[in-house]
Amino acid sequence: MPFLAGEPDGEKMPDLVRFFGSFHPVFLHLPIGIFALILLQELGAMFSSRTAERQETGLFPIFCGVVSAIVAVLCGFMLYHGDEGGAYVGELAERHMWGGLIFAVAACLTFIVKAWTISLGSNPAFYRLLLFGSVGVMGFTSHDGGSITHGSDHLTKYAPNPVRKVLGLEPKAEKPKAKPLEEQLVYADIVAPILDRRCVQCHKPGNSKGRLRMDTYEMLIKGGKEGPAIEPGSAEDSNIVYRVELPMDDDEHMPPEGKPQLEAHEIAIIKWWLDSGGETTMTVAASKPDAAVMEALAKIVPAGPAEEEEKKDDKKVAGPADDVKSAVAALGKEFPGALSFESQQSALITFTAVSMRGNLDDAMFAKLDKVLPHLVTVDLSATKVTDASVAKLAGASQLRLVRLAETQITDAAIDTLSKLTSLESINLYGTKVTDAGVAKLGALPNLKRLYLWQTGVTPNAIADLKAKLPNCEIITGI
Ligand code: HEC
Repeated sequence: MPFLAGEPDGEKMPDLVRFFGSFHPVFLHLPIGIFALILLQELGAMFSSRTAERQETGLFPIFCGVVSAIVAVLCGFMLYHGDEGGAYVGELAERHMWGGLIFAVAACLTFIVKAWTISLGSNPAFYRLLLFGSVGVMGFTSHDGGSITHGSDHLTKYAPNPVRKVLGLEPKAEKPKAKPLEEQLVYADIVAPILDRRCVQCHKPGNSKGRLRMDTYEMLIKGGKEGPAIEPGSAEDSNIVYRVELPMDDDEHMPPEGKPQLEAHEIAIIKWWLDSGGETTMTVAASKPDAAVMEALAKIVPAGPAEEEEKKDDKKVAGPADDVKSAVAALGKEFPGALSFESQQSALITFTAVSMRGNLDDAMFAKLDKVLPHLVTVDLSATKVTDASVAKLAGASQLRLVRLAETQITDAAIDTLSKLTSLESINLYGTKVTDAGVAKLGALPNLKRLYLWQTGVTPNAIADLKAKLPNCEIITGI
């Protein structure tokens, strides 16, 4: 069959071939099940001590096994030749095809030899040898088949470390703690996983369509038949962007029609990465995503570490950890009434300096170091704190509300605030912040309320910010 059919070329095949081909996954399990049962029965016969109970396999099961093997192989052959998208092309698919053919032939021979053995009443050794051989080929081939559809590590992917050791695999790395979005590398943490999901199956070693591999950055630069796949610095000039943005009915559209497509936000992220330099060391923070990109990123990086921690708290419902409790209790003496937990079940803390006002300065605020990661609201209005205290808030990754009204803070404080992506409300009333500083707040995706009354911020800057943060209410008092 392979010699007659030549190289597979899905485009030339009629739909009928694809129709039969799609039954391969239905039929292939029959010979596997039947031959597994025959093997068990045969082993039983070999090792059973009582001759009277020996039940050797009859001809009928082997006959069924052979027929189903032939049907499965025929369907598989059609699947291979009818494949348009190129998902089943490559060394692995070829080996799987040969494995299937050899198995079917070996199964036929097993049947014939069994028939002889029965009619001549001869020694079953040769039959057994053939049976074990066939089942061996079948196992090997089935595993290849599984690897084609589910990836080559489909059995060992989730294997525990002791099993991995026995198999000579690298021990599983501890799941790295999810990095906060800002620290993630745009290529390695965000773009590469998108390409892995949607493109690499057809653009990898052993199966590189268009002679293009997309499994590493170097390979993207190297490109394929048409030259480099990406043009760092310009999404417009990058072949991958060109291909994915072609109309769906264009033959060159990627991924090919019928395959899972890139979603709009994924394309937006790839373009943003390429336009902002398209290299591998850039972090999200360094590339200053605008609000639209932040929205796209939020779809991909679902829960930041802050949210995850919150979820963990929800599960435990045990309330704050003891060390946090004792830290809050200790600080309570110095800051009477200033620190409190959001609720009994919550490890989240609010801090308000209302009762201290002018007495609170940077040195005092520094004592809150231990509880910073747990702070959700911080009110420092009318205190003596400066940019130095605000800089400390960089550690308050869960912060949702911050009041800095009538303090000495300047634009430098906004550099810190603009990285606290969980912020929903900021009060800068009566401070020295300016247009330049406030513009940076456009990077805060969750900001809903911003107080800029009596600041140096001009209506123009506010209009610009409004355009970047359409869901944010900006209170200017004008
Ligand atoms: C189902 C298989 C399949 C998937 C998935 C797939 N491609 Fe392709 N790709 C092909 C085939 C086949 C070719 C060669 C034919 C052609 O050039 O259109 C190709 C060619 C290309 C080329 C041209 C390479 C060159 O230099 O000739 C680019 C660029 C490309 N693909 C990008 C992508 C991107 C980006 C994705 C993921 C979003 C993707 N492909 C997903 C099958 C696939």
